[in-house]
Amino acid sequence: MRILLVGASGTVGRAVAEALAPSHELIRAGRHSGDLQVDVTDLASVERMYEAAGPLDAVITTTGHVHFGELADITPAQFNLGLQDKLMGQVNIVLAGIKRLRDGGSFTLTSGITADEPIRLGTNATTVNAAIEGFVRAAATELPRGLRINAVSATLLTESLDAYGSYFPGFEAVPGARVAQVYRRSVEGVGTGRVYTIWQ
Ligand SMILES: NC(=O)c1ccc[n+]([C@@H]2O[C@H](COP(=O)([O-])OP(=O)(O)OC[C@H]3O[C@@H](n4cnc5c(N)ncnc54)[C@H](OP(=O)(O)O)[C@@H]3O)[C@@H](O)[C@H]2O)c1
Repeated sequence: MRILLVGASGTVGRAVAEALAPSHELIRAGRHSGDLQVDVTDLASVERMYEAAGPLDAVITTTGHVHFGELADITPAQFNLGLQDKLMGQVNIVLAGIKRLRDGGSFTLTSGITADEPIRLGTNATTVNAAIEGFVRAAATELPRGLRINAVSATLLTESLDAYGSYFPGFEAVPGARVAQVYRRSVEGVGTGRVYTIWQ
């Protein structure tokens, strides 16, 4: 398959790229890195990326920042950051991609365990991840031409323990290589409207 991986240089993206590269043609995209540069929050930039990418069988997004902070202190602008970056960034990729993917192609989006397990300082993350999963479930019912869409909800990656471990006390981290297999199941499998979880 020709697979566009948006966020390929990130911690999750690198693991996914390693799992898929041996058996697929990967086109790597990122804000500052990869074969194609894109700002997923900017629809015109997303359209340009698709134009440059050419025909595609699958698109995977492993992007998205959310705001971590005390609920009582979060400003609407900070809350909106997560909505625009992680939620709308991935929604933009799907909306612009529907007419671009080959028949039977697939989208795989990234949510996260906080959709189901709220953490301290994580209201923005839980909101955004739950919205991504709602989008995936509903969009699957309307996609044309046999297109599929799924989300991957992972717990913390082992590779991210140093950076984010303190936000996730009592959560078991999993190696990126295992998380990557879940993305592979979404791309190479038959499921649609699914949220594939890897929580331990
Ligand atoms: N790390 C974990 O443990 C973990 C666990 C579960 C879920 N997740 C979720 O997985 C996603 C990725 O996390 P990560 O830790 O891999 O992040 P990361 O290491 O910061 O990587 C982010 C990737 O997204 C790209 N990117 C950032 N903003 C972009 C934009 N506006 N337009 C296009 N590309 C953009 C970056 O490209 P450049 O490098 O070129 O800037 C980079 O490739 C997030 O949604 C996160 O919530 C992560």
